[in-house]
Amino acid sequence: MFICQKEEYYSELFNIVRQFKKHETRNISCLFEDDKFIISLNDKITAGEVSDHPHLKKNERNDAQLNSFNFNFTKKSKKETLFFLKTTLYKVLSKYFNETLPWGALTGIRPTKLVYDALDGGKSVDEAKEFLIKNYFVSEDKAALTCEIVQNQKPYLLSNEEKNNFVNLYIHIPFCPSRCNYCSFVTLETKKFSHLIELYFEKLITELKHDLSLIKFQNKKIYSVYIGGGTPSCLPLPMIKKLLSYLTFDCEITFEAGRSDTITKELLEVLKEGGVTRICLNPQTLSDDTLKKIGRVHTAKDFFDAYDLIKKRNFTINCDLIYGIDETEKDFQNTLEKIIELKPHNITVHTLSSKKGSKASQESKKSDSVWESNINVRYITNQLEENNYHPYYLYRQKEQLSNLDNIGYSLKKYECINNISVMEELLSVMAIGAGAISKQIFHKKDNTQIERFANLRDVQLYINRFDEILKKKGEFFIT
Ligand SMILES: C[S@@+](CC[C@H](N)C(=O)[O-])C[C@H]1O[C@@H](n2cnc3c(N)ncnc32)[C@H](O)[C@@H]1O
Ligand code: SF4
Repeated sequence: MFICQKEEYYSELFNIVRQFKKHETRNISCLFEDDKFIISLNDKITAGEVSDHPHLKKNERNDAQLNSFNFNFTKKSKKETLFFLKTTLYKVLSKYFNETLPWGALTGIRPTKLVYDALDGGKSVDEAKEFLIKNYFVSEDKAALTCEIVQNQKPYLLSNEEKNNFVNLYIHIPFCPSRCNYCSFVTLETKKFSHLIELYFEKLITELKHDLSLIKFQNKKIYSVYIGGGTPSCLPLPMIKKLLSYLTFDCEITFEAGRSDTITKELLEVLKEGGVTRICLNPQTLSDDTLKKIGRVHTAKDFFDAYDLIKKRNFTINCDLIYGIDETEKDFQNTLEKIIELKPHNITVHTLSSKKGSKASQESKKSDSVWESNINVRYITNQLEENNYHPYYLYRQKEQLSNLDNIGYSLKKYECINNISVMEELLSVMAIGAGAISKQIFHKKDNTQIERFANLRDVQLYINRFDEILKKKGEFFIT
């Protein structure tokens, strides 16, 4: 259980606590008394006692002493206060539980953003790396990886003028042929919800037309398009054809087909004619046993056959894998080796995130303990880098196995520009469909301002309240 006496710090401090969830039998309290920050563990142990705990080495005890947590809140900004509270809490928990985390006390902020800020502030790459290690207790490996990613993104950075002139388009298809058991995305099974597909599509096209006129009105150009889901390829072909007929832009257009069981020659012809440049085909794993266990409804052979069809038609190909699903480390290594042999342009390695809403979230603790003992992240990086893949984007989610991350690797010059510009929040996003989140990003000389507009997530509600959504969205973008 976690208690935080001050509501305003609860969620940020809980983000630190949840990372030590292995030890969740403990009660952890953050209390505030005058100018003191008091961390109490298990109700019985106060921060003062933590400093005497046998897990702490002698020379480390002072750091964890209650007295060193004294803090005059009135003299600091909220940002500085939060930084102090989070890093202090991390230090105490890490020492007490004798566990260091790959990303240390870094939560709620993109690691790459900190590196960009450090570089903008005149630091060298090595100094930026040290900054992550010293200030946020990020591991040497992760700090180096973050800096490498920032370096690899360099060719794709945009000037402020470009950032303000371009926009990304995201189109969301919340339907799938069946539900994979680790998935927490809001998607509906096509068989059960076939009656909604046509209604949804009609609204989607209306929203698309509306947004395209907004973009024209704003005098902006489309930088890249991403049609994601869900599984966009489970839509009937005439719908896909119609959707693509509105996207006549000369730019990267990614189609997240995802599942091999939806790939046909006819689909690929429609995608080629419709201007799609990049297709995501995601095996997640190439073990048939695991595919069955996670409810993926396709085999490894289906994946290879679909891959072949896509490759023959000269699309750029992205493949997603998930590290930490219900299989052994050896299974994962086999998958990685086989995927590398195929040489797709992009490989993104996700680490399992056990969010509520997935069928598998109940079993997450079991897989956590199996994987914790085997975890060998360096193996992944080495294998990929030895085969000419370099890391180029990174994002973290809550509840990821061993507090890891998702990292996209690419063959040089085949980076997905949508992934970079979206993850690094370089451009505004016009997002279409249920649950899609649009962003207006204003790049000024000294700062960047971001405003968000989220469409309703529930498909039925999106359909029912469509006129209201469109009206509010128009107001959001025009004011
Ligand atoms: C938007 S999802 C959907 C893509 C497509 N429907 C598919 O399944 O191939 C994009 C990627 O997120 C990853 N993903 C989905 N659920 C995840 C989870 N619980 N933990 C980690 N990664 C996940 C998968 O690798 C997936 O390919
Ligand atoms: S992982 Fe992909 S195919 Fe599976 S349910 Fe989630 S969105 Fe659908």
